[in-house]
Amino acid sequence: MANIFVTRKIPFWDEVSKPLYDAGHEVVVYGQNNRIDRTELINEIKKGYDGLLCLLTDKIDPEVIAADDKKQLKIIANYAVGFDNINLEAATARNIQVTNTPCDEVNESVAELSWTLMLALSRNLEPAADFAKNVGYHGWEPDIFLGTNMHGKTLGIVGMGRIGGMVAKRAVSFGMGVIYYNRKPVEGVDFEYKPSLDELLSLSDFVSLHVPLNAETRHMISSSTLARMKPTAFLINTARGPVIDEGDLYEALKTGKLAGAGLDVWENEPQPRPELIEMQNVILTPHIASATSEARMAMGKVAVDNLLVSLSGNLPPNLVK
Ligand code: DGY
Repeated sequence: MANIFVTRKIPFWDEVSKPLYDAGHEVVVYGQNNRIDRTELINEIKKGYDGLLCLLTDKIDPEVIAADDKKQLKIIANYAVGFDNINLEAATARNIQVTNTPCDEVNESVAELSWTLMLALSRNLEPAADFAKNVGYHGWEPDIFLGTNMHGKTLGIVGMGRIGGMVAKRAVSFGMGVIYYNRKPVEGVDFEYKPSLDELLSLSDFVSLHVPLNAETRHMISSSTLARMKPTAFLINTARGPVIDEGDLYEALKTGKLAGAGLDVWENEPQPRPELIEMQNVILTPHIASATSEARMAMGKVAVDNLLVSLSGNLPPNLVK
């Protein structure tokens, strides 16, 4: 029997946590569906747990890991695909396994939101809907809210992992061309590989970002890369906010060097950049790419499975490297 600390009650908790209780583990769930603050997290870790189930909003840095002074922690199961909130080096140095929750339900959900943002931007959905509800529509006019067709356009995928692949596949049914940039070509992917990010950016009408956040990808999209993009192009980010330098993005949008942006993730969450809020051609959503019932249920099950396997002394299925 092991003990597990859960930093927040996750959706469908009763169903997804059942295997933990069935296995006889002791489970402590923090609070009343509120976010744990750093001091409380450190105090909890000090109590000594074998497993930790945490969210992407929990920063698991060296200090938090060191709070496990009994060196009891065996696994940190992150309830997210991205794991940039966890300091892998500090965890590995203590032989703590770190896992994430990649699964088809999450990938589909993120791919669908990427498409939601692309379609909404291409047809001025947000300002048009606001106009219809709040401003006053007086009848059909030929020149209001002119958008752009997806058909015949080029979608550039940055990061051809599972999510990038699902976004790309959907483009075929829209009659779009697809190109992708990745560190290396991906086996089994038939879309055209571009070894140069600059080239991909210069050819794409829609660019969708699907890279993890790390030292290499932080500010991958900044003034120099934005300068490569077509002024008619749209940029979508459902990956991690700091992949884009938002100050540079704002400048590009303001000066007409880019047509629009759909941002589900922001550089400084939960604070949106104030200048972006005002822009008609920017859609901001509050990190909801994986917010579907299907995805949340699957994420919970995957995180619990990782805990169970690890705490039984085996390698969990979604160990991150
Ligand atoms: C993830 O799983 O990393 C997503 O960002 C959560 O929405």
